[in-house]
Amino acid sequence: MKKNYNLPINNVEFSIFEKTEPYLNNNKKPFTIFYDDPENFIRLLSGNCIEILKIAKENSVDMIFADPPYFLSNGGITCHAGKMVSVNKGKWDKSKGVEENHRFNLEWLKACQRVLKPDGTIWVSGTTHIIYSVGFAMQELGYKILNDIIWYKRNAPPNLSCRYFTHSTEIVLWAEKKEKSKHYFDYQLMKKINQGKQMRNVWELSAPLSEEKKFGKHPTQKPVELLKRIILSSTKEGDLTLDPFCGSSTTGIASLLLNRKYVGIDLEEEYLELSKKRIEQSKIEKKNEM
Ligand SMILES: C[S@@+](CC[C@H](N)C(=O)[O-])C[C@H]1O[C@@H](n2cnc3c(N)ncnc32)[C@H](O)[C@@H]1O
Repeated sequence: MKKNYNLPINNVEFSIFEKTEPYLNNNKKPFTIFYDDPENFIRLLSGNCIEILKIAKENSVDMIFADPPYFLSNGGITCHAGKMVSVNKGKWDKSKGVEENHRFNLEWLKACQRVLKPDGTIWVSGTTHIIYSVGFAMQELGYKILNDIIWYKRNAPPNLSCRYFTHSTEIVLWAEKKEKSKHYFDYQLMKKINQGKQMRNVWELSAPLSEEKKFGKHPTQKPVELLKRIILSSTKEGDLTLDPFCGSSTTGIASLLLNRKYVGIDLEEEYLELSKKRIEQSKIEKKNEM
């Protein structure tokens, strides 16, 4: 049966229009709905986020969290659980060279900017490998950068080569759609959870806990605590969050637990399957807590 994506079959206000040009041009739908839960306002789409965002509803999303490929998977080594392992995470993480990687960052950031509401904000996490390209692309596109959060991982793995300082941080850039946007920030709540003191831009949070990986793990999974803080600081209950590179849907889990709506997109069905399992489990946990 053909679905009409304009109808509010899921009350997530992020419609995919059947009659948009990219879809009609190649006569190929660039996505499938992998998982749909209208009751909890959750939708997972399988496909390339750039193609999907180009045909999604403009000005419809309150907040985007994006954890894009870091283009790290080029045959290097890293340390995992005390062992030397390959750094390769998948085809999606292979570098295409500095210029091509920057073009990619520009393209998905532009597609995200179009779907953000006028006062909406975007968070992008990354390491040295991409974060400067992301920041520059944001400036080129007219986003206004609000903060660079330094996420300090107190349990970071050691550096095996002993030729560098041990990497133990990631940067998360927070930006609003354009210079004149009036972004939302829950200053008081952030102060409250920081023992009554202004929250600074260095956040000390552990990497994902083992219970967050009980259904298998995504190679670059983010901790739920990081996403909870991001969501609490920059959205209100009922807002719509979008994660264009959702992986195991850490953003979706935090959104569900904090009563926000969520759309997640990923290329790989293996990760969407993991997302689905984690979301189902979080629904049970949420129900049990009520
Ligand atoms: C860094 S990981 C995100 C991990 C996620 N934050 C989590 O907590 O599990 C990036 C994800 O983007 C996906 N991806 C890469 N290119 C994509 C594209 N063009 N469109 C949609 N997803 C893409 C990969 O399959 C991968 O799961």
